[in-house]
Amino acid sequence: MITNIPLAHLGGLTAEEFLRDYWQKKPLLVRNAFPNLASLVGKEDLMELAQEDSVEARIILEKDGKKPWELRKGPFTVKQYKLLPKTHWTLLVQAVDHYFPELAVYWQNFSFIPTWRTDDIMISYAPQGGSVGKHFDQYDVFLVQGGGQRRWQLGEFCDKNSPLVPDTSLRILEDMPITFDEVVNAGDLLYVPPRLAHYGVAETDCLTFSFGFRAPALSHALEHLVDAALEQTNAEALYSDPQLTAQTHSAWLNPQHLVDLQQKVMALLNNPESLSAALAPFLSEPKYDDYEPMGEEISPEDFIAALQRGVIICRDPASRFIYVGEQGLAKQLYVNGEELDFDADANFVALLCDNCQLTWNELQSFIENNNINSAWFCQQIAAGHWLLVED
Ligand code: SIN
Ligand code: CO
Repeated sequence: MITNIPLAHLGGLTAEEFLRDYWQKKPLLVRNAFPNLASLVGKEDLMELAQEDSVEARIILEKDGKKPWELRKGPFTVKQYKLLPKTHWTLLVQAVDHYFPELAVYWQNFSFIPTWRTDDIMISYAPQGGSVGKHFDQYDVFLVQGGGQRRWQLGEFCDKNSPLVPDTSLRILEDMPITFDEVVNAGDLLYVPPRLAHYGVAETDCLTFSFGFRAPALSHALEHLVDAALEQTNAEALYSDPQLTAQTHSAWLNPQHLVDLQQKVMALLNNPESLSAALAPFLSEPKYDDYEPMGEEISPEDFIAALQRGVIICRDPASRFIYVGEQGLAKQLYVNGEELDFDADANFVALLCDNCQLTWNELQSFIENNNINSAWFCQQIAAGHWLLVED
């Protein structure tokens, strides 16, 4: 993605300006950022998806539940839907992008942010009055209005000491001084940085698409670094101190000795050669750790014929891809927590991983110059890492 040209969906900011001035710092409202998003997934699609066992879905009832702000977990049945009150509830469905490749391609608009930071597209449906309360999240989110209207109010940055409403499993803020108050329409985008209080109430029947990001816990990253360091550290490697100087009190723990020991341990952790091997599998883990992609068998000849016919290649929306090497040049490829051997051109593998979807036009020169090992790529299609989608 070109990072220094103005982007309409960021209100004319370049990706560089957005990251410098807004990302993790302050909110941004862009009117009519994605005018066509609303047509991709509707209320009925969402309600159907939330009936599946494998789909993560919740309903939040502000009123008329067993208690205020009742949280119900899916899967849901048609009967449960029929018993819902007319107003003041929200259905939230996670990872809708995993089921709708045409929605997943919208991630391309945020491809200036690395894939290991992306989480999923959650969609909520709410009738008039529906909301999930005043709250803050730990992660960045772009909230894009689908159909209907929502009134968004923003507050201030919160932390673990911000007072919460008691007696509910939801983390609803007791109080939220208003710093922003706008009604959004279909296609409008609101970026909300982590920990900024927000409160969105459906003015009419309304769908909201949340492009959510994730950030690894530093403690988890540390675990992976420690594991990698332990694998490479010879169990017999011992602390050595040829420069030891005499001390008058033998039981005294010399702070300098502690620092020496710490530095030797840090040197084990601080090994640039094993850094990507230690962290890349972890950073490429998919959202759901039991996720197993499902593919389809295709021969190299049929694959090329399908592309020429107008079939599109989509990166599996539920899988996570990262590569190590240079930008646009893959040396190692990681998919869903595993390193994947590849027998293909480094530019081609980078192109495949960097893009949500590719067409014949983008692949033609690679194919004609024999830079694609079609047999290898057909194995990836069979493994479900890339999907063939009719346009
Ligand atoms: C919603 O879609 O109702 C809530 C999204 C959010 O506040 O993060
Ligand atoms: Co939120």
